[in-house]
Amino acid sequence: MLSFELDTLFAGIADPDMDSMRILSETAMRFPDALSFSSGAPHDGNHDLAGLTFYLDRYIKHLRDKGLPEQRISRLLFQYGAVNGFIQDDVALMLKQDEGIDVAPDAIMITHGFQEAALVALRGLFAAPDDVLLAVSPAYVGIRGAARMLGIPVHSVTEGPDGPDPEEVAAQARAVRAGGRRPVALYLVPDFSNPSGSVLPLAARKRLLEVAAEEDLVILEDNPYGLFARDGESSPTLKSLDTERRVVYLGSFAKSAFPGARLGYLVADQEVTDADGVTRTLAATLSKAKAMFSVGSSSLSQAVVGGYLVEHNHDLRTPTRELAAVYQERLRAILAVLAEHFPPEDDHGVSWNTPRGGFFLTLRVPFVADLAQMERSARDYKVSWAPMSMFHLDGGGEREIRLGFSNLAPDAIREGVARLARFIKDTLRDTPEGQV
Ligand SMILES: Cc1ncc(COP(=O)(O)O)c(C=O)c1O
Repeated sequence: MLSFELDTLFAGIADPDMDSMRILSETAMRFPDALSFSSGAPHDGNHDLAGLTFYLDRYIKHLRDKGLPEQRISRLLFQYGAVNGFIQDDVALMLKQDEGIDVAPDAIMITHGFQEAALVALRGLFAAPDDVLLAVSPAYVGIRGAARMLGIPVHSVTEGPDGPDPEEVAAQARAVRAGGRRPVALYLVPDFSNPSGSVLPLAARKRLLEVAAEEDLVILEDNPYGLFARDGESSPTLKSLDTERRVVYLGSFAKSAFPGARLGYLVADQEVTDADGVTRTLAATLSKAKAMFSVGSSSLSQAVVGGYLVEHNHDLRTPTRELAAVYQERLRAILAVLAEHFPPEDDHGVSWNTPRGGFFLTLRVPFVADLAQMERSARDYKVSWAPMSMFHLDGGGEREIRLGFSNLAPDAIREGVARLARFIKDTLRDTPEGQV
């Protein structure tokens, strides 16, 4: 019987860090009795089974209204189709309306979630073994994993309370260059970052675009949470400020529609000229990579999300406003309950940040909060969370916990934080002095 030693397979497969996506996605299923702060799963109340067929029918009606013959509609849904997808027009209208991003449909590729958009962008942009990705750390596990699976080295830029400092980005780009390697791109989540919840201020956004031009960097802007700001508090995306076409924008419908659709998109309006002098967009050029990763994105998911966009006149901000209010209420609830259990005047050594929105906050505790502790917490205290160290690119975050509050209603948040407080207080009591 054919069998393998794990370390004879691709090194990224054996790397324990590469299990983080699976762990985060599956913790809630592994510990069904536990209240889960472990992932950034969106609010279930937004997911209505009848909506699936409604939006599918809505998109088919839209195609009929446009005068497409039945045979073409059925081909579009049942057959292999264009690699870059068939709802780019709809996404272009949405981006213009919601984000002030003005790109032609041929600068858009519909992908299998953010994850494939990242894989496609990285595969296309990183040509040599010494091409390095700068990533703001702590970082979303998906980017680190995508880079690792493609063998792309990652160099971290440590973030502060307001995201990355553009001068630090420039300094790290120069450090990479001084080491004889080429910094090609910077990955960041400017709006309500995962895991820290930070938001990059407007002045830093503008400066970051200048730094990208000075240091010849592409910016990979990942923005799944931007729609969930408090009313009137949205920041302009880097892409909407990008007059030099430095930004490749990586979008996802996981939080604005639903993650099971596995639908996202890549916006790359940079020009690429081939040996014959023919010029196309980077998104069109990268379709070769997309074709070899996944052939094309699911026609059914595209039609359902397309129907959602059409039904809402390509304006996702309006239907998302209610949802944003749900997450804001959950954020307020978790902050209030944490303050009840850990009053600032007491000497408990527990503190947390106060994000303005998004799905996550960071809790600092006076002991090592690793995966083994998380499993003990989930098993014995019936509350799960994510060790922050999973997100740090070069070590760090050992005494920090990421709390994802997006999938728990305020009552469950109250109960979950009570269980977490018991876990923390018992752990502190049982941890010998000096070992915290
Ligand atoms: C930072 C970040 N980017 C992107 C995504 C969405 O990725 P996908 O579209 O692959 O589900 C998430 C989901 O958790 C995320 O936190």
